[in-house]
Amino acid sequence: MTSRVAVVRGLRTPFAKSGTHYARLTALDLGKMVVTELIERSGIDPKSVQEVVFGNVIPSVKAPNIAREIVLGTGLPRKIPGYTVGKACASANQAIAAAADMIYRGYADTVIAGGSESLSDIPILFSKNFSDALVTSSKQKGIGGKLGAFRKIRPKDLAPDAPAIAESTTGLTMGESAEKMAKENHISRDAQDRFALQSHQRAAAATSSGRFKDEVMTVVVPPSYESIVEADNLIRGDSTLDALSKLRPVFDRKYGTITAGNASPLTDGAAAVLLMSEEKAKAEGFKPIGYVRSYAFAATDPSDQLLQGPVFALPTALERAKISLEDIGVIEMHEAFAAQVLSNIQWMGSKKIAQEKLGRTEPIGEIDPEKINRTGGSIALGHPFGATGARIVTTVCNELQLTGEQYGLVTVCAAGGMGVAMVLERE
Ligand SMILES: CC(C)(COP(=O)(O)OP(=O)(O)OC[C@H]1O[C@@H](n2cnc3c(N)ncnc32)[C@H](O)[C@@H]1OP(=O)(O)O)[C@@H](O)C(=O)NCCC(=O)NCCS
Repeated sequence: MTSRVAVVRGLRTPFAKSGTHYARLTALDLGKMVVTELIERSGIDPKSVQEVVFGNVIPSVKAPNIAREIVLGTGLPRKIPGYTVGKACASANQAIAAAADMIYRGYADTVIAGGSESLSDIPILFSKNFSDALVTSSKQKGIGGKLGAFRKIRPKDLAPDAPAIAESTTGLTMGESAEKMAKENHISRDAQDRFALQSHQRAAAATSSGRFKDEVMTVVVPPSYESIVEADNLIRGDSTLDALSKLRPVFDRKYGTITAGNASPLTDGAAAVLLMSEEKAKAEGFKPIGYVRSYAFAATDPSDQLLQGPVFALPTALERAKISLEDIGVIEMHEAFAAQVLSNIQWMGSKKIAQEKLGRTEPIGEIDPEKINRTGGSIALGHPFGATGARIVTTVCNELQLTGEQYGLVTVCAAGGMGVAMVLERE
């Protein structure tokens, strides 16, 4: 058993709007790049890695266990196992939690955890009728039989079937679910746009100040290696409230408030952290950027307010960390939508919600929206589903180092009504 699980360091690729810099790459390509560079930058002996755990939300049908493929594709010793976890947008948090648990139990002392996503490379399915015909045809010997298998195929059977970002139980997309939250919590369009603007301004300031140099690598894009990506390409430092206010609502065109400007964009990217037992890290001379103090996952009924999961996870994470919200100096909340973050904050500060939904007498606590996401969030930086949790854990640890604050908090909402809260601490 270790006393604590250390985050030795974290790294991510620059995040890119899907269909741009990494349009020809897969989640595996991105995952391999970040793990290779994480190992190089940290200076660990690759042989000391005992497991790779990766999150990925829309897996490739050809390489569904991306974690093991990363081991095999990066020159890591082939004896290192790897497994992939899926917990929607909290997948990298789940990977980090699982890796931390292995270390905490003493089953490993050095694990790489993270996540990767390419929304430029989503599997497009055939209809059931057409795939049945393909299978039947492949079993026939003669050309007549092979062609005959397609006799009953109609033009509509040829329509591609792409994965939807929709809830199975409600049929609502994430955007529609966030619209519902904005309406029920009375989150105004103006409040959402101001929050989005702040996300962009902070991300732009952090980028130009060099704040991300320790946590964002440079990608030389294969296979031609002609294009070099050094920074996130979704940040709009020149965005204005006026421009944001003119964008048309996307998910409810008539009465809605959510636009391309105050939602997180479809993004490609990967992120990873190197975790070690505190003893091993110190014995090897590493200076960890933070420690995992506690975490909690929770879920709520998707038909209520889908993206309120963090509200249900936070009290347990704080209880497990034996601290209260006031003790926390650095807070990073994943921004799926501005309306979702503002709704989470509203519920965390509400006595009524505490009593009616959380079984508490008092609210969890007040969170000042100004104090969260000091270097921007997913609206400006982008949100590769499987990777975001590892980006945020790295950012919180580095902010703890820079600010001297003792405790940091990560929250991420996820499809299915789920959410995670993680408490990190400095030395
Ligand atoms: C909202 C969404 C549909 C927008 O996609 P899109 O239409 O491809 O977005 P674009 O980047 O093309 O932006 C649309 C327009 O808004 C403008 N825009 C976007 N952000 C802006 C900003 N911050 N300031 C000013 N203009 C902005 C763009 O310039 C573009 O204008 P144009 O049409 O004149 O070129 C897409 O990002 C989405 O689905 N997001 C949600 C993803 C999701 O559900 N995630 C799950 C979270 S858990």
